[in-house]
Amino acid sequence: EYHLSPRDAGLASAGIFGKFDNQQLQRGFQVYKEVCSACHSINLVSFRDLASLGYSEGEVKAIANQWTVEAPSVNPDTGEVATRKNTPADRLPKVYANEVAARAANNNAIPPDLSLMTKARGDGANYVYSLLTGYQPQPAELVAEHPTAATPPGLHYNPYFPTLNLAMSPPLVADNQVTYADGTPATVDQMAKDVAAFLTWTAEPKLEVRHQAGLAAFLFILVFTGLAYGAYRNIWRDLK
Ligand code: HEM
Repeated sequence: EYHLSPRDAGLASAGIFGKFDNQQLQRGFQVYKEVCSACHSINLVSFRDLASLGYSEGEVKAIANQWTVEAPSVNPDTGEVATRKNTPADRLPKVYANEVAARAANNNAIPPDLSLMTKARGDGANYVYSLLTGYQPQPAELVAEHPTAATPPGLHYNPYFPTLNLAMSPPLVADNQVTYADGTPATVDQMAKDVAAFLTWTAEPKLEVRHQAGLAAFLFILVFTGLAYGAYRNIWRDLK
């Protein structure tokens, strides 16, 4: 009864006519890059995929080249592992070398890869938005009723998280935590919406094509049904 369903983020991509808002996707990428990427990878996305958000080839190259976590590069002769700068063909890199390192840095929890997060959780984009803006003090009644459910040290109460307590501390805490290139006021609410929109794109970059194909198929079936009905009337006309 304390667990809440996601609130509506009102994203442009929602609904059967939904389309991506590229300005918003770019803002969301900026939030991912400047905040989330410290802990979470989006390893199913390649840098060159970012071109479909409206970045030029040069911008994509620069983003890849300047990415803080470099790509691993193994020397084929010695097996020695070094790093090199990312190229547009590289996937966005994993943040931690392995799960042990991830847990060590995160109070024994693992920050999941976010590429498919909006598909992995029900009502994904709204869930991400709600989770990011949903941190709050634990209700006193809850602890009174269920003393063992008190938020353990190092975890954070959030009614949108299925178990109510999660290891991620609130990542978006102050307005203007990022400075948007397009001048949009960076409120916490706005940043949460934008990153939710961006993660909708990482999980389903072809969403617009799917929506268009669905509409075309629906219209076709509508017309076809009309024709079939007309044919039916015509064929049985004399036998009434
Ligand atoms: C979990 C999003 C920033 C550490 C998660 C989850 C999401 C998420 C959607 C998964 C919740 C679930 O499993 O249902 C984001 C976004 C961020 C961000 C969008 C940026 C705005 C960070 C940062 C850190 C972090 C900066 C580290 C300092 C974690 C950890 C978990 C987690 C440790 C696992 C929590 C648990 O299983 O208890 N995050 N995150 N996140 N995140 Fe983040």
